[in-house]
Amino acid sequence: MQYLTFSNGDSFPMVGFGTWDVRGVSGERVLLDALDAGYRLLDTAHMYGNERVVGKALRASGLSREEVFVTTKLDRPYAGYRKAHAGVDHSLGELGTDYVDLLLIHEPYAQARDMWRALVEARDQGKTRHIGVSNFQGRYLADFLAWCDAEGLPQPELDQIEAHVYWTQEETRGVLARRGIACQAWAPFTEGRRRVFDDPTLTQVGERQGKTSAQVALRYLLQLGIAVVPSCRIACAWKKTLTSSTLNSTQKAWLGLPGWTRDARSLVGIDLAVMSRRSYCSCGITLRCLDSMLTSW
Ligand SMILES: NC(=O)c1ccc[n+]([C@@H]2O[C@H](COP(=O)([O-])OP(=O)(O)OC[C@H]3O[C@@H](n4cnc5c(N)ncnc54)[C@H](OP(=O)(O)O)[C@@H]3O)[C@@H](O)[C@H]2O)c1
Repeated sequence: MQYLTFSNGDSFPMVGFGTWDVRGVSGERVLLDALDAGYRLLDTAHMYGNERVVGKALRASGLSREEVFVTTKLDRPYAGYRKAHAGVDHSLGELGTDYVDLLLIHEPYAQARDMWRALVEARDQGKTRHIGVSNFQGRYLADFLAWCDAEGLPQPELDQIEAHVYWTQEETRGVLARRGIACQAWAPFTEGRRRVFDDPTLTQVGERQGKTSAQVALRYLLQLGIAVVPSCRIACAWKKTLTSSTLNSTQKAWLGLPGWTRDARSLVGIDLAVMSRRSYCSCGITLRCLDSMLTSW
């Protein structure tokens, strides 16, 4: 397993388990199986309505709390300073744990700055080990970081954003990299909305490397330094997903490739208005890049 490191030296697995559609008893079973398969990062949120299920699975897994990295997120009902504090306590109650590993503001709400003050305090109080944001991009992200600086507040440690082979978020990643903020992708398989699993280029690369197209799709993001939280209920795919992050030195050649895919399109169109045109020129996955990738994996 490959890890990313926060600025304080703590690290987290680059491949985690997305839980947005995990519910009830069957959901708990899915989570137990995923932990058994080797996942050590669970990505939940108040919005998913499943923090309680995640907490139950954690306790039933037999793993110690420290062995599993738990992320949760505060959404609109908790948009405000006092509300965010209440949201943290609510999430901890649902999860049945004293702390989470990472607490995010789910979306750039108008009250995000007030929420951020509460998150900083929650971290100081030991209720979360790390704090960050989600879906903060473009101009909004830049303004938020400038505000943190001006207020003398800590900056986010991680930004969870939509990213996949068709939308690698070069501009936002550039900002995050310059600031030493970790980047984590949601929808790394495009929520199944685009043809990741039978994309001809991903399939071709996979066949030459003895990998699935899904592994190639994740490998590409990981190679760019983007952590991923794919969702998958197909248990037989889990081990393969987890091994997407097994690095060897030749793969490092990928890192030099600027934008393997340039058919850059967001699934949901977040913040397109504030991104430059460079972010969504269209030309598809290039064979030059494919060749460079085929060194060996
Ligand atoms: N911060 C945010 O705003 C935000 C937004 C959306 C999601 N998220 C987080 O990101 C996680 C992942 O995003 P997502 O679930 O939207 O999309 P995703 O991971 O891009 O795609 C999930 C889809 O891919 C399929 N799939 C996964 N692995 C596969 C494989 N090896 N072969 C074939 N199909 C496969 C799944 O099938 P099955 O249906 O059979 O499992 C599911 O339909 C969520 O669970 C959530 O934790 C965060």
